[in-house]
Amino acid sequence: MTIDLSDQVVLVTGASRGIGRAIALQLAESGATVAVHFARSEDSAAEVSSSCGHGSQAFQADLSSIDATEQLFDDVIRAYGRIDTLVNNAGVALPAPMDASIDSWDKAWSQTMRVNLRAPSLLCRMAIGHYQERGGGRIINVASRAAFRGDTPEYMAYAASKAGLVALTRSIARGFGKENICAFTLAPGFTRTDMAQEFINTYGEAHAVDDLALGTLTTPEDIAPTAVFLASGLADHATGATIDINAGSYVH
Ligand SMILES: NC(=O)c1ccc[n+]([C@@H]2O[C@H](COP(=O)([O-])OP(=O)(O)OC[C@H]3O[C@@H](n4cnc5c(N)ncnc54)[C@H](OP(=O)(O)O)[C@@H]3O)[C@@H](O)[C@H]2O)c1
Repeated sequence: MTIDLSDQVVLVTGASRGIGRAIALQLAESGATVAVHFARSEDSAAEVSSSCGHGSQAFQADLSSIDATEQLFDDVIRAYGRIDTLVNNAGVALPAPMDASIDSWDKAWSQTMRVNLRAPSLLCRMAIGHYQERGGGRIINVASRAAFRGDTPEYMAYAASKAGLVALTRSIARGFGKENICAFTLAPGFTRTDMAQEFINTYGEAHAVDDLALGTLTTPEDIAPTAVFLASGLADHATGATIDINAGSYVH
């Protein structure tokens, strides 16, 4: 099976680091032109876009802002004239402990919902409008095992935001399939990135691996090929599905 994405422009949010970076690089390996979104990591986004080639460029936006999120989509359309696949990957994991002040609890919940749920929802909304004009397109939303398994008490906001993203994806799949718009959820488990590093530093890698059925931690490169496959159109009849990539740590 050959996957050729040379006719595709793909917007990947949070592509400067971690899972988004690996997805961007593997999409480009299959020929895609990638809009490499970043918030603060400008140098690494520039490095990713130059490694991607095919006219890939980096685009900055703080996804906690509605205006900046809208601007991001418009900037990519202005640069390439179209988007074929949207990958909502950017995310934050912010602790909101039960004993925090209401003020800091609210800050963590609000920022989590803005970046992990509101921004992807707005980008999906804009992508759907664009796809309706163009006759179709694909959306891949990166949620988490936490959407299904739940998370620790400190990270309930994170789990709730990702469960919302799953419901959004399923609704898009059910609502817009007749217009050739397909939507998928990727649900990683614990994956070796900056986001997971603090846990590894605190509890050790062995503790993280203990939780898995497999013997080694998942890496971003273990997640990316599935995104390429979903973007290709070969899995369109799986629209609405969640693909779990969690090394067997949560099977449902
Ligand atoms: N790692 C895991 O164990 C794991 C498990 C399940 C699900 N996930 C999900 O997978 C996705 C990628 O996670 P990761 O582990 O690769 O994370 P990561 O290494 O921490 O990278 C996060 C990415 O999101 C971007 N980002 C953060 N805040 C942003 C904001 N306010 N506006 C715009 N972009 C922002 C960052 O951009 P800059 O660096 O440019 O600021 C970066 O590119 C996330 O949605 C995460 O929830 C991760």
